[in-house]
Amino acid sequence: MFRWLLIVWLAACVPATGQVSPLLKERRTSPSDLEVSGQLRGLPPGTTRYIAYQDLLWLPQATCTVTNDTNFVGGARIAGVPLTELTRVFGETPEGDLVVALSYDGYRTNYSRRYMASHKPLLVLTINGKPPDKWPKSEHDGPMGPYLISHPAFQPAFRILSHTDEPQIPYGVTRIELRSEAKVFQAIHPPVPYKLHSQIDDGYRIAQQNCFRCHHSGEEGGQMAHRSWLVLAAWAATDQDSFKRYLRNPLSVNPASLMPANPQYDMVTADALAAYFRTFLVVRRPE
Ligand code: HEC
Repeated sequence: MFRWLLIVWLAACVPATGQVSPLLKERRTSPSDLEVSGQLRGLPPGTTRYIAYQDLLWLPQATCTVTNDTNFVGGARIAGVPLTELTRVFGETPEGDLVVALSYDGYRTNYSRRYMASHKPLLVLTINGKPPDKWPKSEHDGPMGPYLISHPAFQPAFRILSHTDEPQIPYGVTRIELRSEAKVFQAIHPPVPYKLHSQIDDGYRIAQQNCFRCHHSGEEGGQMAHRSWLVLAAWAATDQDSFKRYLRNPLSVNPASLMPANPQYDMVTADALAAYFRTFLVVRRPE
């Protein structure tokens, strides 16, 4: 009996190669549906589909106790779908190797394969056994749902100058895109030749994890800041001191700033970010 149930369950959730998952619907049926897009198996790239909260509960789940996520005061027991399961069930492999989570406030978080392997992030479905409408409020008093992403206890996996690998724990996640890492990061790749472990390389890798969540370049990156990569580049090229002060302590330059401070960044780190952003203003001669 159980074996049959398992076969039926697997058939429902993991379609044969090339087939669209039956859990993905063409239309939204509820505000809590999760949008899914990017490179979905069996669909043209960029197609958007919807999956219901109840249907996400059909996917393989993981449960853990979170002790060091700033979204939960005093820790919490969370359950949800590992992001790697979303790529496995819905993704067109191996092209889709980056999971991008978009939040209702324009924040956009990027999960590389390496990050997912190190930190095992979960698309959270319940907190302390409760569904999203019973979740506490976010830091800005908005809803934490419809979805949020968190991990089991987070241990930093890398360090670049004074930037330490940071937990990527967005709330208000409404959409997941299964994308190609090379294509998404191409939008912020330095447009000049550079060496590994140079200032430009260090600045690039820090900006990938930090600045790119809120600042955009073309179609890619976060929309929360409403200031593009080129605006940041102009600051770095014309007023380097203010740029460096801004990223370490935005309130010292703009008393109305909503950008989080980075007091942990020393001058060497701020210089690397300035060197990286300046490359976007280098005038390129026509070929
Ligand atoms: C959590 C979102 C967030 C992150 C991450 C973030 N910023 Fe910002 N940033 C903002 C917002 C919002 C503004 C708009 C003005 C304000 O509120 O400070 C801004 C404005 C700026 C400005 C001033 C631009 C202007 O014309 O007003 C600079 C410079 C800047 N950011 C640099 C950076 C750099 C460099 C990084 C990465 C190290 C970064 N920011 C990461 C949210 C963010």
